[in-house]
Amino acid sequence: MPYPSKEIMALPLGLLVCFIIGVECSLSQLDRIAQLPGQPPVWFQQYSGYVTVDDKNQKALFYYFAEAEIDSASKPLVLWLNGGPGCSSLGVGAFSENGPFRPSGKGLVKNQYSWNREANMLYLETPIGVGFSYSTNTSSYEGVDDKITDMHRQYILCLFSSRLDSELTKDHLYRHFTSHLKLFLFLFLFLLSIARDNLVFLQRWFVKFPQYRSRSLFITGESYAGHYVPQLAELMLQFNKKEKLFNLKGIALGNPVLEYSTDFNSRAEFFWSHGLISDTTYKMFTSVCNYSRYVSEYYRGSVSPLCSRVMSQVTRETSRFVDKYDVTLDVCISSVLSQSKVLTPQQVGDNVDVCVEDETVNYLNRPDVQMALHARLVGVRRWAVCSNGDQDSVIPLTGSRILVHRLSEELGLKTTVPYRVWFEGQQVGGWTQVYGNILSFATIRGASHEAPFSQPERSLVLFKAFLGGQPLPEAF
Ligand SMILES: *[C@@H]1O[C@H](CO)[C@@H](O)[C@H](O)[C@H]1NC(C)=O
Ligand SMILES: *[C@@H]1O[C@H](CO)[C@@H](O)[C@H](O)[C@H]1NC(C)=O
Repeated sequence: MPYPSKEIMALPLGLLVCFIIGVECSLSQLDRIAQLPGQPPVWFQQYSGYVTVDDKNQKALFYYFAEAEIDSASKPLVLWLNGGPGCSSLGVGAFSENGPFRPSGKGLVKNQYSWNREANMLYLETPIGVGFSYSTNTSSYEGVDDKITDMHRQYILCLFSSRLDSELTKDHLYRHFTSHLKLFLFLFLFLLSIARDNLVFLQRWFVKFPQYRSRSLFITGESYAGHYVPQLAELMLQFNKKEKLFNLKGIALGNPVLEYSTDFNSRAEFFWSHGLISDTTYKMFTSVCNYSRYVSEYYRGSVSPLCSRVMSQVTRETSRFVDKYDVTLDVCISSVLSQSKVLTPQQVGDNVDVCVEDETVNYLNRPDVQMALHARLVGVRRWAVCSNGDQDSVIPLTGSRILVHRLSEELGLKTTVPYRVWFEGQQVGGWTQVYGNILSFATIRGASHEAPFSQPERSLVLFKAFLGGQPLPEAF
């Protein structure tokens, strides 16, 4: 053969470029995505692959990185984490919410409100066991799902048990107290280990992408990432005291799980104010058996007849034929919905699949797509959106608003921008309130749990204002 084939030519050329610029860049070049199957032409670079976070147990986290569409060198680095716990930032965040593409038919279509218009977007599948992230130590791997499930169960139990324990004897109390202490410790350590893995991931990711090391860094995420994001940010600040590595500028949380009691119990008011339940049911749902009590009874394995009655009435009235959190939503969104299936009790007969077909799941399970992404399935047969979860649980804004306000009081922050509307184009994009110059609350009008999915344009305006530290548009 007189000439080497195209494929053979392509690789040395890429490496050659790196060799000239510097040795380090070749590491990221190995993760460069030439093209995703069915992808429309774009001018920014994409990368994906693994970063080993634990050499002993061979734990490797999978990432997908989409550089900014224009002038990436001047744009910040944004890490995005989805919640669950156990849901994929690749499937939910990148391919259903704010990434550059969405699966459609046999290929991908461009998302014109992609967040990589404003930033270099890094999506991380975490912890191990989620998506393409893996561990080769099967014993630590098998445990992840159970640990996540357990984590939620125990956490919920711990939070509500003190109240319900009042009828128990001292002896019982003592035993409960010591077992809760153990559970708390267990949860604390497990969550810490996730945050640590995420921290090590970023440290080592910077070795692949040294040009991003000193770049302004923001951490964003939604749902259960309301726990992951602050924990990771806290670890970074601690790390920076020893060695200033992370140029962390801010965090943003979308519909975050912050505190169970407030978040869960805001559900009753949300249902009632949106006309999903009657006045009588609302009264029962707040005075006879509230949602946090029901959840804690459920996880103790004995739902009282009282709570059972209240919950079946709530279920009957809300009906299983509407998406309870966005009654206007009737498109096929099973991958997006998966994340809202935070581990909360399953209601009777409420287990209907919104969509049988899921384009993201199909796309990411294609061998050619996995090859283009440099992804591998280790210990599992198929890529899945979430590693577990069984029932919708969305965090109503009424609860978040209370918690943000409480946080502002704890931090001693005064309101600097009183509750007001903000604009996207000539329409009201939502409402906002700012505390001091570091804490902002904002709603996105017409958005469901996954705001960038249901209100992409408004979400992008909010994201841009957040990155720039700018107030949300006050007029048009
Ligand atoms: C695998 O993980 C388990 C549980 O985390 C640990 O006890 C064990 O030492 C690990 N095995 C190896 C070979 O590292
Ligand atoms: C929920 O119910 C429990 C038990 O009846 C009660 O202690 C708690 O205050 C209630 N919470 C709210 C927010 O109503």
